Amino acid sequence: MLLSCDLKLSISGGCATLNNSLKHSLRENFPALHNSATAYLDSASTCQVPSIVINAISTYLATGHGNAQRGMYQFSENASNLHQQCRNKVAEFINAPLSSDIIFTKSTTESINLIAHSLRQRLTQAHSILVTAMEHHANLLPWQRLCQQTGARLNVLPVDDSGELDTSNLTTYLNDNCALFAVTHISNVTGLVNDIHQLCKTGHQYNVPVLVDGAQAIGHRQVDISQIDCDYYVFSGHKMYGPTGIGVLYCKSLENEPLEPLEPLEPLEPLLLGGGIVNKVTLDNYQLKTDVEKFEAGSANMLGIVGLIAAIEFIDSIGWPVLKQHEQEVSGYLLCALSSIDDITILPTEEGSPVLSFVHKQVHSHDVASILALKNIAVRAGHHCAQPYLKAMGFKHSLRVSLGCYSSFEDIDSFVAGLNKVSRTFTY
Ligand SMILES: Cc1ncc(COP(=O)(O)O)c(C=O)c1O
Repeated sequence: MLLSCDLKLSISGGCATLNNSLKHSLRENFPALHNSATAYLDSASTCQVPSIVINAISTYLATGHGNAQRGMYQFSENASNLHQQCRNKVAEFINAPLSSDIIFTKSTTESINLIAHSLRQRLTQAHSILVTAMEHHANLLPWQRLCQQTGARLNVLPVDDSGELDTSNLTTYLNDNCALFAVTHISNVTGLVNDIHQLCKTGHQYNVPVLVDGAQAIGHRQVDISQIDCDYYVFSGHKMYGPTGIGVLYCKSLENEPLEPLEPLEPLEPLLLGGGIVNKVTLDNYQLKTDVEKFEAGSANMLGIVGLIAAIEFIDSIGWPVLKQHEQEVSGYLLCALSSIDDITILPTEEGSPVLSFVHKQVHSHDVASILALKNIAVRAGHHCAQPYLKAMGFKHSLRVSLGCYSSFEDIDSFVAGLNKVSRTFTY
């Protein structure tokens, strides 16, 4: 259910109560939260890391770090095995048909740039790219540059007053020569969820490949690539309780029939060239490998690989139903608490969303965040790397509260108390 800005939430019996033992056992996994008094409410930016991830990385380093696919000795062989294990695990985690459809990158940002780079040689003035007004800059700037470089047209699917995608003219943009439709799964500002299965289906009716930015979805819901049926799905390890520096680019089977109207996308162009990606090199030329490794030049980020395996194991060990239930309960509590504060305007949101933005009517978001930071409350203020989206909703900045599986009622209570203090300070 979509909730409006001046929502008066009515949860029967007042604010819901959370199962305490569940809450504590989830939070216990995160040493940083024990070791600090911080109420961490910025998980959409990056997640705190559970012990299982910290221990996996430390054990790996303590038992022999190696360069994957480089040596024949045990440390290197072990690294190669972990590298492949991670590819298999990621494929299984998102229900991708083949582990060879998984490319490791540095981040969501790098994954998107890789695809934009790949298209550079193939796009002409006759082509267009479709993005939406809801995108994080990571899923906008690479397409802007690609269009500037090639003369292709950048079309933008607008959002309506309630921050949702306005798909009424979608098919006009998907007309001939649209080379790609890039769309976010979940907004990092409002938490609104797009019906990406339907968007992919519509794109494919017009033979347009669809790239889905899954950065805000991957740590909060089960992503099923086979059901979504997108052509590319991108995400970062650090948004799902893993370390920074490891990202994923899922490409629908590189062996599949290419989509018109572009020339075949296979072979995609690697973004980086260097060691580990070639069959043969002479002084004036090179012959790339034909498999997924050709996109992963240079030494693999083994700490990222090991951490990502452990992050998936962490999520699997708790299970999506518990993770979702917990987030929904804390999210409901947050919305309930914020709805009773008069001095703020809540941006469009969705019930149960782990991301919620609002503006204070009298105080600039940065000032609110600075005051909250003095009280060990970590929230995000600013444009959230989504300036066009905020502008389309009539805002220049906002405060964003975002939850993880460790977020608690106490975090929300501290935050609301801090917010009330801000209001009192500025109104007297
Ligand atoms: C929706 C969305 N896309 C892309 C990104 C970029 O992710 P990264 O910085 O890990 O590349 C973010 C980061 O917040 C995001 O929220």
